[in-house]
Parts: sequence; C-alpha cells; structure tokens
Amino acid sequence: MAGTAMDSFVVVWHVYRLPLLVALFALFVAARVYRQFQSRSKTTASSSVPASPRSQSPEKIVELAAPAEKVVAPPTTKDNAKLAAKPATGPKRVLGKKPAKTIGGRRPPVSFIQPLVFFASLTTTTERYANILLEDLRAAAAKRADLQNRERGILPPQIHDISYIDFDDFFTTVPQPPSTSPGTRYVYCILTPTYNIDTVLNTFLDHLNETHNDFRIDTAPLSKLAGYSVFGFGDKEEWPTEEEGFCSQAKEIDRWMAKLTGRKRAYPLGMGDVKNDAEVALKEWTSGLLDILDDILENGGLGEGVPGSGDALESDEEDAGNEEDQKENSASTMVDLEDIKMNGDTAAPIPVDFTTAGKATSVATEDTAKEMVPKTSPTYAALTKQGYSIVGSHSGVKICRWTKSALRGRGSCYKYSFYGIKSHLCMEATPSLSCSNKCIFCWRHGTNPVGTTWRWKVDSPELIFDGVKEGHYKKIKMMRGVPGVRAERFAEAMRIRHCALSLVGEPIFYPHINRFLDMLHSEHISSFLVCNAQHPDQLEALHRVTQLYVSIDASNRESLRKIDRPLHRDFWERFQRCLDILREKRHIQRTVFRLTLVKGFNVDDEVMGYANLVEKALPGLVEIKGVTYCGTSTSAGAGLTMQNVPFYEEISTFVVALNAELERRGLKYGLAAEHAHSCCVLIASERFHVNGKWHTRIDYERFFDLLEQEKRDGTSFAPEDYMKETEEWAYWGQGGFNPEDERVYRKTGKNKNKALEAAPES
Ligand SMILES: *[C@@H]1O[C@H](CO)[C@@H](O)[C@H](O)[C@H]1NC(C)=O
Repeated sequence: MAGTAMDSFVVVWHVYRLPLLVALFALFVAARVYRQFQSRSKTTASSSVPASPRSQSPEKIVELAAPAEKVVAPPTTKDNAKLAAKPATGPKRVLGKKPAKTIGGRRPPVSFIQPLVFFASLTTTTERYANILLEDLRAAAAKRADLQNRERGILPPQIHDISYIDFDDFFTTVPQPPSTSPGTRYVYCILTPTYNIDTVLNTFLDHLNETHNDFRIDTAPLSKLAGYSVFGFGDKEEWPTEEEGFCSQAKEIDRWMAKLTGRKRAYPLGMGDVKNDAEVALKEWTSGLLDILDDILENGGLGEGVPGSGDALESDEEDAGNEEDQKENSASTMVDLEDIKMNGDTAAPIPVDFTTAGKATSVATEDTAKEMVPKTSPTYAALTKQGYSIVGSHSGVKICRWTKSALRGRGSCYKYSFYGIKSHLCMEATPSLSCSNKCIFCWRHGTNPVGTTWRWKVDSPELIFDGVKEGHYKKIKMMRGVPGVRAERFAEAMRIRHCALSLVGEPIFYPHINRFLDMLHSEHISSFLVCNAQHPDQLEALHRVTQLYVSIDASNRESLRKIDRPLHRDFWERFQRCLDILREKRHIQRTVFRLTLVKGFNVDDEVMGYANLVEKALPGLVEIKGVTYCGTSTSAGAGLTMQNVPFYEEISTFVVALNAELERRGLKYGLAAEHAHSCCVLIASERFHVNGKWHTRIDYERFFDLLEQEKRDGTSFAPEDYMKETEEWAYWGQGGFNPEDERVYRKTGKNKNKALEAAPES
C-alpha cells in the first residue's frame, strides 16, 4: 500500500509540477513586492517591526474590534480560522481604511429591540390582525423579560396606523433611540392589505419610492433599523395567484424596504389569504420573526456580510452560480497542493485498507490518527469557500441550489417529481469527504481527499449527526433575507425531513454509517444513500435505507476506468460484486441505478452493456441524467468540455433505446417519469406499476412505521409496502414541472436544452 502512495505521489507530481513551480515563483515575487512596499511605507516606523504581512499593526485590529466584542457572540472556531487566515492574504488589505469605515458607522451594541408594528387598514380587518400580532409580541416581550436580565431584551411593542403617521418620522429617517438607552434598535413589522383602488397604500409606496430616489437623501436612510419584515393580506377569491396580484402591495413594500434599509429583511415576506389561512399564517410568521429577534439580541445584528442575512445581493441566483463556479476553480488549484503534501508526508500513519480487510483492527488509534480535513488545511478552506460546513474532521453539509429555489417558491429538484421530496426539506450531507474514485465529471473534484483506505481519525456518529443538522439549519437561516423566500416554506424548512447522503465523498466509507442511519431514522428523516460500487463489504453490511443508490458510470471495464478513474486496481470485480449485492437486496429496499451520461464517454454503443447490468442487478429504478458541466480545471484536464454534455433529446433517445432493450429481453421495466429541467429520466420496474399507475413516490411515514415495527418484532418489509402514486405531471412525456411552483425561465437561450447548472444537485 505504501507503494501505491508513492506511485500516486509521483503521478501527482508529474501532473502538477508546472503549475506548482509557477505558483511558487509567483508567491516569491509577490512576497518581494510586498516587502518592498512595506518597507517604503514604514520608513519611519521602528525597525524592530518585522516587515511581514502579519505584523501590520495587530493592535489596530484588536482596538477596532473591541467595542463590538461584548455583544458579538464568541466567534466560532470557523470564524477563528477565518480571522487567522485573513492577514495571511496580505498585500490586498488596506488596513486602517476599511475598519475605520466600520468604526465610524459602528452603532452601540444592541441591548434592546423595540418592535414597531405598522398597519394600513380600510375595513379594519388588517387592524384586527395587527392587534393579534401586538398581543403576541407583547407576550413574547414579557416572557423574555422574566428570563433575561434587565440589560437586554425585547421591549413592549408599539403600534402605528400608516394613515395617521407622518411618513418622515419613520420612513425617511429612523427614530432616535432614547438617550437613556442608546443600545435600543428598532424592528419594523409592517402589515398591509391589498387594494386595487387608490388608497393610503399608494401614497405610502410613493413615499418609499421618493425617499429612495431623492438625491438629497442617502439611498438607504433606514439602515439603522435592526431589521424589518412585511406581512401581506390578500383575497384569493379575487386574486388567486401572485401573478394576478395576490398581496402585490406587500411585495412592493418589501422590495422598497430592502432598498431603504440596505437589505435588512429580518424575516421573509409573509402572506395570508383573508378568506382562508390568514391568522394561522400570521402566527407562524410571528413565531419565526421572534426567533430572529432573539438571534439579533444574541449576535448583535442580523449578521451583516452573510448572504441572505440582510446583506444579500438582490441578484438572480443563476448569476450567483457563476460566481461559485469561479471560486471553485481557484480553490481546486490550492487543494491539489495539499494532496501532494498529504501523499508525500512520510510521517503519516501507514494506510490500512480497511475496505478489503473488512476489519479495522489496525486502523490507527484515535490519538495517532490524523484528521482527514484539519481546520488549518487548504482543503478545509476550499470546501468552506464553496459553501460546505465541515463537521468534525471528515463530514460535511451543504445547501443545494434547489433548496434555495424551493424556499423561493420555485421548483424542487427531480427528487420531488420522482419521489415526493421537497427540496427545502432535504439536507445534503456526507459522513466522509473522502472518496476512492476521481470521476472526471465530479464537480467536487480536486477539493476532496481521495484514498482507498480509511486512515483518519473517526468522529462519533452523534457528533456528526448533531453537527450536520446544526450546519444545515444555520445555512437555511441565512436564507431568510434572500428576496423571494416564502415565509411558509422557510418555516417548513426548519424541520429536516430527508437526508441525501450524496455530496462529495463516499458515505459508506465511514465506519459507523449504520449508527448514523439509525439516528436519521429515529428522527423520521428519510435516507437516500449514494455509493460508488467500490466497497462491496460495506454495501453488504449496510442496514436499511429509504433508497439505496449505486452510481453506474459506465457499462464496461474500459469505459469505467476512463470515467471514474478508480483508485482500486480490482475496481471492476468490486463493481460486479456490488451489483450482486444489490440484486440480493432488491426485495428488502428500493434499489436504484444512477446513470450519468457523458457524451463521447459512456453513451454510444453502450445500451447493450447497461441492459446487461440491469439484468444482473435488477434494480427497482434506473435514474438516467446528463452530466452537468462544472467547468473546473480538472474536468477540463480530463478532456471534458461543453461538447460532452448531452442535449435532453439525446438523453431521451438513449432512454428509449435502453427501455426497448429491456423489453426485448423480457425484463419488466417501463418509462415512468421525467424532470426535463434537470435533464433526468426515470425507468422503473413494473413492481412500481399498480392498477395502471406508476408508484415511484415514497410514503415516508409508512416507511418509518414499517421500520419501527421491524425493530419491535422483526417483521420484514418490501419496497412495494411503502410506495405511493406518482403525480401525473411527472409522468414521462409531461415534463415533470410541478404546476404549483412558480416557473422561472432562464435568460440564456443558447444552450437551453443542456444542463448548465454550475453547482449541480446530486
Ligand atoms: C418611482 O417613482 C418614479 C418617479 O415618479 C417612477 O417613474 C417610477 O415608476 C416609480 N417606481 C416604482 C417601482 O413605482
């Protein structure tokens, strides 16, 4: 095994020596230039100060940070790492200027929050709701007054009718906090009905518009607010949808307030139908808002600078995707260096291939084993930059773009069409950031460690479970200020219902994966587990999951080698054994083949080969999707370009051919569903076709009932026992777009049938 490590070191060195040398040289030049610049600007400074980037007046930083220290919650270790890492980025930072701006605008710490309720009402309906809100806020303030000391808390709310106030007092400037309590900050809660006649609301909206556009006034004169949130009342009988005007004025107020406050949306816009759910929706919105008020008190603000927490770009998320992509590019070069270091490190414990040995007897013990992704490593920095929260030393969690999409009332990913999973209820996590393949299309490639063996410190499943949940909720919370996030979906998202174990890395690599699954199930979180068909022993020992995936990236040995670039020499034998195991498990749980089509690699002439694999393993379902182009330097290095991304028509042709071949062989499968938006098609076994209808969806509650019963008295159950009818809009030929979601068309028409997502769902 040591030989393999050495070999791969040599290989890696050969591949990366040029960029490495160039990078080192660039670093050297940069250091020289910086040093020169330093010494010039510091000619009068004491010569005992070493001219390193780190040395530039640390006192100044401390001094500037000091006033905030009392209120800002103690920085997490992650923040520490960030702080520590910052000075090292060196020359770019112009110290003294930026912080000075902060200190100038630095307001006293938030000690009290003063909620101000504003409402407009013509028929007194909204006034009645405003009073309900007032009561809830009052109760919350009183309750917290008991718990909190007298130096911090929520003050009893005040209420104002928009018809009777002078707009200038509240919506041109913010009221001054009382001199006796300079730490008081205001939160505006604005309740508004919807009218299509001329009312005070029009005057109010005009005022907001003028204030924002008045050149004499700062464009964000309300930025001293601690936050705001808007709740609209509408009538679905008159305006059934938002497109037709449901809560249109609330939406406009919300937009203006975002501008006037400099994006201080504390909680997503809430909406209620006066003929139906208004009061329930209002109560839910209130309770979510109160949570945030507690956060503000605890953290001293909305957390400026965090996307979505009041400082979000009001940009389209498609644009944001490109940004992420670029980041990914720059990050991957960094990490390849780390890989070299790791492999070349002679002090590393001798790797033990626990995946073949089956027993982990000689895995290094807790105290001698290294961490897979240490906090100080470039890998950690790169993954964090890409949006991962690293949990412990080898697990991670990330919000996927579909989660954001669903929170904004737009579509969910194909998992909703096929299996009934709403993306905003789904957590994407992995207990192992390491993988044993280096798949050419892996968009995480280059940032995750790879290895055939587990040679790292093992974190407990409890630590991972708590950590990923915490990380997920934290990221969801950051989304609350993002424009378009729906209050009701946001509230739903605060309870995880599904877990996709499919991010970067290989989940069954983790030695305690079964205990981790137990924890998910005990909280009624469903489990979708994706593995790469390289760990037959682990696959065999794996307990029940809600749905078990095996990635089938090619139909024959040669093409699999080219695509997955496996580290195991016996990768084909391992792959075959995994198929056998899948076949054995097919009546115990839902088994799925996941095919990722890469044009020019694994599509042409492989229909027969894939049919052979299906015949061998008889999976319940076959998911076929086109590769998503991620444009990283590594995938480009493997020869992958936009040309390799198949058009949806090409995927369809392939799927039809595969389906026909399965039929020809007398295997009972059929074309069940599609999600054209993510170029994904589902072939299903006829076991999921009952009474002329497809049942590819999952009855999750039934799954947990059956699981608990099995635990109690050993009653086994089959996939057919927890299936559910597929919605007709998801059927093959229907496109798979949920009619309840707001449809957003892409602006770019050029490649409209290709999967162009920068950060693909998994
Ligand atoms: C804001 O006011 C300007 C000038 O009166 C007007 O042209 C513009 O349409 C208004 N914007 C909105 C969004 O109402």
